[in-house]
Amino acid sequence: MSRKGKSNIKWWTEKIDDLKGLSENAQKIDPAIAEFAADYSPWPDDDVGDWALLKLCTLRYYVEVYSNVAKKHFDKTVYIDLFAGDGFNYLRGVKDVIIGSPLVARVTPNIETKKGENKAFDKMILVEKDETKASMLRTLVEFGLLPENTKVFCCDANAPEVMEYIKEVLNDGGNNHYLAFIDPYTMEIEMDTLKELFKMNGDLIINFMASSIQRPWGNYHSPIQKSKPSKEKFDKFFGDESWLKVKPSFEGGSVNEMLPLYIEKINGHREIIKIIKVTGNKGKTFYYMIFAIRRTYENSPWLKAIDAVKPRIECVDDKFIEILYQIYRGKQETLDSFNPS
Ligand SMILES: C[S@@+](CC[C@H](N)C(=O)[O-])C[C@H]1O[C@@H](n2cnc3c(N)ncnc32)[C@H](O)[C@@H]1O
Repeated sequence: MSRKGKSNIKWWTEKIDDLKGLSENAQKIDPAIAEFAADYSPWPDDDVGDWALLKLCTLRYYVEVYSNVAKKHFDKTVYIDLFAGDGFNYLRGVKDVIIGSPLVARVTPNIETKKGENKAFDKMILVEKDETKASMLRTLVEFGLLPENTKVFCCDANAPEVMEYIKEVLNDGGNNHYLAFIDPYTMEIEMDTLKELFKMNGDLIINFMASSIQRPWGNYHSPIQKSKPSKEKFDKFFGDESWLKVKPSFEGGSVNEMLPLYIEKINGHREIIKIIKVTGNKGKTFYYMIFAIRRTYENSPWLKAIDAVKPRIECVDDKFIEILYQIYRGKQETLDSFNPS
């Protein structure tokens, strides 16, 4: 142990071994799932594949702490994943498939503790626009990897029927609480959808995909670009026209200036906002995980979980991600002395 606690290498080795083990177990359940994973190739739009590892480790860490506490305080806990994917993620750096966010949320809470408690989410609501991916999620329900009562929507995350269903589940008269994971490619989540979620009791993890927003934003302002993204898309994402205040990059502006504008919109709805920056690909890929949390009771332990995980994630650069991949491939014994930062 270093003075600051567990060394980064040790911490990451544990997290990676854990996620890798869970992914292998998921694939053992049925040959159909193993076959799916073996044939898996990255989706063309998925340009943050390698950094999925960081995102999923963070989600797992958060859900672990959340589920240990939340069930003591609420009648029902609900996991909402508005961009659920197909249950798996491809890690380009190691050419391997690991479990995606819905499975992380499923396998992380203790289902049966020594005291006979069940800390699993009582309900999972998953939304995925792509039909193939949504059908894989349904297969995972069929094979018991996701709970039988999981609701899978194959539609836009902002569709009214999704929000109606979420309201029905949460507003049943009980003291219920949700954890929503919002993990779009770019700006597919609308501010109006977030506002509806904010009206209910729960915490949100929103990935603000800064580097993916950069391209359409640059195109919008570019004097030479002919096919421009629509203004309406930006307006719906930010909830208004405030994004127009940020100067385009050719006039010295930066997409990073959009983050505070976005946070401003969320600020009034949750007492606690915490942000973790995930960077990679020589700084070209970067996004922010925004944790928007209601102060339910003093010292919510999952706040400490975010503070603890933040430096572990933010210190990961290109060199370190290579180290993480070596750990993934099982070569960590040669790396024990490496401790970045
Ligand atoms: C970054 S991936 C999500 C990965 C997943 N959360 C995970 O960690 O395993 C984004 C997903 O959102 C889906 N998607 C894109 N636009 C959508 C929309 N408007 N509504 C719902 N899903 C959408 C994509 O098909 C893709 O599977």
